[in-house]
Order: sequence, then structure tokens, then C-alpha cells
Amino acid sequence: MENEPVWIVKKAIDALGYEKIADHLDVSPRTVRRWASGETNVSKSVLLVLEQMFLKFHSSPKKPAEFTFIDLFAGIGGLRMGFDDNGGQCIFTCEWDEYAQKTYRANFDVDHELAGDINDIVGDIRKHITETPDVLLAGFPCQPFSIAGVSKKNALGRPHGFQCKEQGNLFFHIASILEELRPPAFLLENVKNLERHDKGNTFRVIMDTLVNDLNYKVQYKVIDAKGFVPQHRERIFIVGFDGETGFTWDDFRHPGPKAKTLKDILLPANEVDKKYILTDHLWSYLQNYAEKHRAAGNGFGFGLTGKNDTARTLSARYYKDGSEILVDRGKGKNPRRLTPRECARLMGFDKPEKEFIIPVSDTRAYKQFGNAVVVPVIREIARIMKPHIMQLKERSGAACTEQHFAQQEIRIIANM
Ligand SMILES: C[S@@+](CC[C@H](N)C(=O)[O-])C[C@H]1O[C@@H](n2cnc3c(N)ncnc32)[C@H](O)[C@@H]1O
Repeated sequence: MENEPVWIVKKAIDALGYEKIADHLDVSPRTVRRWASGETNVSKSVLLVLEQMFLKFHSSPKKPAEFTFIDLFAGIGGLRMGFDDNGGQCIFTCEWDEYAQKTYRANFDVDHELAGDINDIVGDIRKHITETPDVLLAGFPCQPFSIAGVSKKNALGRPHGFQCKEQGNLFFHIASILEELRPPAFLLENVKNLERHDKGNTFRVIMDTLVNDLNYKVQYKVIDAKGFVPQHRERIFIVGFDGETGFTWDDFRHPGPKAKTLKDILLPANEVDKKYILTDHLWSYLQNYAEKHRAAGNGFGFGLTGKNDTARTLSARYYKDGSEILVDRGKGKNPRRLTPRECARLMGFDKPEKEFIIPVSDTRAYKQFGNAVVVPVIREIARIMKPHIMQLKERSGAACTEQHFAQQEIRIIANM
């Protein structure tokens, strides 16, 4: 976990750059780097100045956003990052986990509402989101039970939505928010298995609701992040537009499955704390366990990953024993688990110019990254969605203008 002074420095660097901070405080950029890495402690007076510089920066006018979006089931903001980087501006966030909120706030400028439980806001969504967003983003939790039997009538067409008793009904909250706000576009994300859950019934209900009840033009695709990052991670992405736009998944550019290998995200060995190396006890337990399953003809076991390999899917339970991705340290040496920083890299949250801030414990960080989306995949989806979002935005702008002129004309005729 990074301490608070370190991430205040990082946030300031992110906003202002090393040079500007160094110049303002009359120190070398190297000193600023040392503060950011935690090598040198930052004094309280310096922190105060940094906070003031940061506040001043944020009160100055920013580049206007090209489109707006809302970020539901936001986690630590993986979907948001991809849309931020494509000219989007977040105007509302919903995430109920306080630790995920902590990471989210440390990394993004949250100058809008960050709501908790979606059940508490879905009934009066217009009070929370007054402006119609251009895009709705939602990485909604995997369906723990079949939603096929849940009556859609309960969810749609009611002025106050419906009270969701079970987490599995969360999709209908998204549906009722789409119905109420009618954004020109949306992107939903889920595990690949959603397609096959409950013999395909869950997915059928979801598509039927989006296409037939809500009348969106919907297309979906399963994408493996392998190559964007050195991790095999398949997720389903459902894109919808409020009208025909010509959007096609054929525009999606994949770098190829071998573009990245584990060495691209590993920290130098001397920067990895010994605590990440498996104890003899755990390592022999995992080997015995795997052997037992191999003998029984099962495929279970640990995932020993070399530097030229692709890792298995990082899961939210990685904090338990890290067995799905163990970094091979060579013959005769116990493997180690990934550090949280390496998980940030494995999920594409770190950028060359900016490290993602991790303000929570290792356990929480592993859970948060294990639940997240691979950012470069989202960046690519946002890139191909953007022209169509802008097209619909313009169309609705033109429609509003036409309506405005028509109303004016009626008023003029009425007054003649
Ligand atoms: C699959 S994760 C989304 C991760 C996100 N896309 C990211 O990149 O970090 C689903 C998130 O929904 C949140 N969540 C679950 N139930 C919720 C509820 N009722 N209200 C608000 N958030 C909820 C969870 O805490 C979790 O962070």
C-alpha cells in the first residue's frame, strides 16, 4: 500500500508534471521523483504547497469534454480510464465498495456524485443525474442466479424502478436507467460465461430487453485481452446505440496474441519484496494438490508462468494463494506471486507516464484488479465507439435545433 503523502505527490505530478513542481518548489525533478517513489519523505509544508498547486490547477478551465458518460458498478474505474482517454468526461459514478471508492478517488478527479448502492438511487435517477449522458458504462457483477424468471415488467416502465432484492437483478437496474435517461450509447461488460449462463436464458433475456424493450441497436463480442496485456482474459462486451450508426466490431484492432509477454509487466527482481515468494509449505502444498488432481485426470493446479509466457486470468481470489499466476524464478527456487503493482500492469492500469495509485492493502488491491477490466481493451473499444457516439450526439443536437425552430415557427404563426 502506498502511503497518503506518496499518492498526493503522484496526483500532483499527474496534473502538473515533474518539471513544474520542481520549478515551483525550487528543487530538482529528481527530488520530486524520490518523493513519488517513497524513497525520500515529503515534509508537511511541501504537501501543503502541492495540495494548493493541485487545487489551483483544478479550478482553472479545462479542455471541454467531447462527450459525457456515467460509470456504473465502477470498481476502480477500468471502463472509465478507456473513455477518459478518448475525450470523455465522467459526470456520475456508482460503486458501493468503500475500498474500491478509495482507489477510485485516489486516481480520478471525482468532481461529481460518487453514489454507493445502486438500489438506493435507481428509483429517482433523474435527481442524481440531471444532464442526459452520452454514454452509459456498466461492468455489472456476474449473475449469481438466473434472471430469466424475473419479470421485466417489474423493472421497466415504472416511474420509480423496482426494488432489487437480489444481486442477480442488477441488470434490470441498468435497463431502467437506460429507459429513464435514454443515453445515445452504452457499453456493458461481463464474464464470457454470461452467454451460456442458465443454458443461455440469462443472455437471451438481456438481449431481448435491450433490443426489443428498449429498442437499442445492439452488438456484442467476446474479446481476449491476451496481447493487449500478457494475460488470457476473455470478457463479453455489449455495445448499444440509440439508432443505426454503422458501428461494427470489425473496426476493433487487436495487437495479436503474442504482442506482450510476462516480462513486459514484471518488476526487476531487486524491487520485489521477499514476502511475495511462496513459503516451502505453500509451494509443496500446491504441488501435491496439483499432482492429486493430475492423477485423477483433472486439469486443476497452479499456473507457473515464465517471462516469455502469457498469464492465466487474474481472479479476485488471487490474494488467497496466488496459485493461478505464479512467477517462475528458475529451477530450485520457489516461485512468487505477482505484486499489486505488477497486477496493475497486468490489467493495463499503469501508463508509461503515470502509475496507477494503489492506496489500499495488498489483499484489497488483488481483489480490485481481479475484478477489473483490461484498460487497453476498453481504450480500443472507446476508440471505435467514439465516431458513432459523436454522430448520434450531433443528430440529437440537430433534432433539438429543428424542434426548436419548428416551435418558434408555430409561435410566430400563432401570433400572426
Ligand atoms: C465486475 S466489478 C466492475 C469492475 C470495473 N469494471 C473495474 O474495471 O474496476 C463489479 C463492481 O460492482 C460493484 N457492485 C456490486 N453490487 C453493487 C451495488 N448494488 N451497487 C453499487 N455497486 C455494486 C462491486 O463492488 C464491484 O466493484
